[in-house]
Amino acid sequence: MADTWYMLGHADPELARLALQASILDPITERMLHAAGLAPGMRVLDVGTGVGDVAMLAARIVGPTGSVLGIDPGAPALATAAARARLAGLDTVTFREVALDAAADLGRFDMVVGRYVLIHQTDPAAFLRAAAAHVGPGGLLAFHEFMGLGHIVSEGGSPLIQEIGRLVQTAMRVALKHPNVGAHLVEHFDDAGLGRPTLLCEVPVDGGPASPFYDWLALTARSMLPVIEKVSGVGAAALDLDTLADRLREEALARRAIATGAPQFLAWVRCGSTAMS
Ligand SMILES: C[S@@+](CC[C@H](N)C(=O)[O-])C[C@H]1O[C@@H](n2cnc3c(N)ncnc32)[C@H](O)[C@@H]1O
Repeated sequence: MADTWYMLGHADPELARLALQASILDPITERMLHAAGLAPGMRVLDVGTGVGDVAMLAARIVGPTGSVLGIDPGAPALATAAARARLAGLDTVTFREVALDAAADLGRFDMVVGRYVLIHQTDPAAFLRAAAAHVGPGGLLAFHEFMGLGHIVSEGGSPLIQEIGRLVQTAMRVALKHPNVGAHLVEHFDDAGLGRPTLLCEVPVDGGPASPFYDWLALTARSMLPVIEKVSGVGAAALDLDTLADRLREEALARRAIATGAPQFLAWVRCGSTAMS
C-alpha cells in the first residue's frame, strides 16, 4: 500500500523487493561511489535509506574509522534496515526515522548519498538543496537514480520481458513523480544551485539461469499491480503473477535473450568551502 513518502509503501513484500533490487544495483552503486570519491574514514549520510542497502554498502567502504547514518520516514523499512545491519555485524551504521525535509540537526557529513529517492520527490531540486545543506565544506553530494522510461531493448530480447517491461513503464509514467529523473540530473543539480554534476551511467545486463532479473521484474509488476490495472486494464489473473518469474526465465533462456534493466546514473558534485543552506 502506498504511503506519503513512497508510492509503493513499506509493507513486507515491497521491503523484500527493495532488498532483491539492491542485490542487482549494489555492484553498480559501489563502482559509482568509489568513482565519486567515497573512501575509508568518511562520515556518510544516506538519504531515503529504505531497508539500508546503500548505508550498509557505504559502511563497508568507509570501514571501522568511518560511520554512516541512514534516514527515512518509513518506520517498518528502518526496523528491517537496523536488523540487517546488526546481522551483518556493521556497528558503524545507525538509522533515524526522519524525512530529509524535517531533519535539521543531523550535522555535517563528508558525503551525502541517495539512491532512487529523487524519483519520488515533487521538487527534486529542492530536495537536492536540502541534502546539500548536510554536506560539510569540500564534501560530496551524490545521487544514484535511473531512467525509468524508454529503454526497453527489442533486439535480442524476450517478448515477455518486453511486454511486462512496457506495462511497468506505463504504470511508472503515471505513478512516479519523476520517472525519468536519471535523464534530468544535470537540470536538477543546476536548478539547486549546485552547478553541473559529474555523471556516470551503467546499464544492468544479465539473463543467466540464476539471474535475479526475472524475480525483480515479476515483483515490481506485483508491487505496481493496482496502477497497471488502472492504466492498462491488465489484472493479476492475466499476468499470472505466481508463475511470472518462472515464465520470464524460461522464455529468456529458450531464446538466449539478454535481460537489461533501466540505465543507472550517478551524478555528483563536490560542494564548495562555503556551507550551503
Ligand atoms: C525506492 S526506495 C529506495 C531505498 C534505498 N535508497 C535503496 O536504494 O534500496 C525510496 C525511499 O525513499 C524514502 N523517502 C522518500 N522521500 C523521502 C524524504 N523526503 N526523506 C527521506 N526519505 C525519503 C522512502 O520512504 C523510501 O523508503
